[in-house]
Amino acid sequence: METTTFSSNGESVPRDEVQDLVAGLPGEKNWDGSPLYFYKGVWYPPSAIRGAISFRQHFIARDTDIILASMPKSGTTWLKALAFSVLNRSIYSPTESPLLTTPPHDLVRFFEVDLYSKHQLPDLEQLPSPRIFSSHSHYEAMPQSIRGSGCKIVYICRNPLDQLVSAFHFVRKLKGENVKPLSSIDEGLDNVCLGIRTFGPFWDSVLGYWKASLERPDKVLFLKYEDLKEDITFNLKKLAEFLGIPFTEKEEKDGVIEEISSLCSFDNLRNLEVNRSGAHPSGTPNSAFFRKAKVGDWCNDLPPSMAERFLKIVEEKLAGSGLSFKVTE
Ligand code: A3P
Repeated sequence: METTTFSSNGESVPRDEVQDLVAGLPGEKNWDGSPLYFYKGVWYPPSAIRGAISFRQHFIARDTDIILASMPKSGTTWLKALAFSVLNRSIYSPTESPLLTTPPHDLVRFFEVDLYSKHQLPDLEQLPSPRIFSSHSHYEAMPQSIRGSGCKIVYICRNPLDQLVSAFHFVRKLKGENVKPLSSIDEGLDNVCLGIRTFGPFWDSVLGYWKASLERPDKVLFLKYEDLKEDITFNLKKLAEFLGIPFTEKEEKDGVIEEISSLCSFDNLRNLEVNRSGAHPSGTPNSAFFRKAKVGDWCNDLPPSMAERFLKIVEEKLAGSGLSFKVTE
């Protein structure tokens, strides 16, 4: 093994075979000028590439595992809070939920930017079942042990225009090496239109999980952010049923679904001290995961011509899939 060091995510780590693999990957520039690496069909940022490779190479799934998957800025934080609450509702009442004192991303940890980026071989065997994790990798980039196992995947997607605008604001809040401040959303539009963005292409992410949800509906649940905004009760029931722990009649009568939806609501989570301060292990301030949470907010930032151009590309990519998005409230 070589002894040179490599800085990833602000940390120095020994050079190893993962680093050699990274060095050989196709690269591109992200929106903000930072590098992106193309691995297994996904554009990974420097904070995720090592983790993504180790995750794919080493993760061993259990049939009882639950994986929450998404493109960033699609409602991941919300889904983590909801799934954690549904899963642990017999242990914690909403007034004593760990969500009140711990950010959702620390309760359901990312494979790529957290677990496998800190350690090439994190010890996940000690965790009791059911384990719950999250990922921004595409379905096809997941380890075979996940795709071939009985574990359940919940994917949340969001309409491409709101996802794009949310990502733009998020990127502007990040500070990193080789990053130039983004002043306008149309900077780097050409790469955006080619799908070259963090964890993109958008269409490959959504289509992979969409098709998997049609082929394996008992193992892959496909949710849309806009549907959750429209009817959280219906979608919470759907989530609980999919996870094999449907709400009982008594729970419904006792208002458990409403309690969970209030606990996980945008206003409630955003205003908790724990989410107003501190930072995610990747360095991102916890508050950056909460902005406006509106459907159709894209029209405040995206010039109509750009929205039209991007939407047309996405529609062409999704043609024939049966998948469509609601882009206005
Ligand atoms: P906006 O930037 O449009 O406000 P992710 O969690 O995947 O990073 O997505 C972040 C987006 O989800 C942000 O969208 C954020 O405001 C919104 N969001 C965060 N928590 C939410 C919640 N509890 N309910 C609804 N939306 C939420």
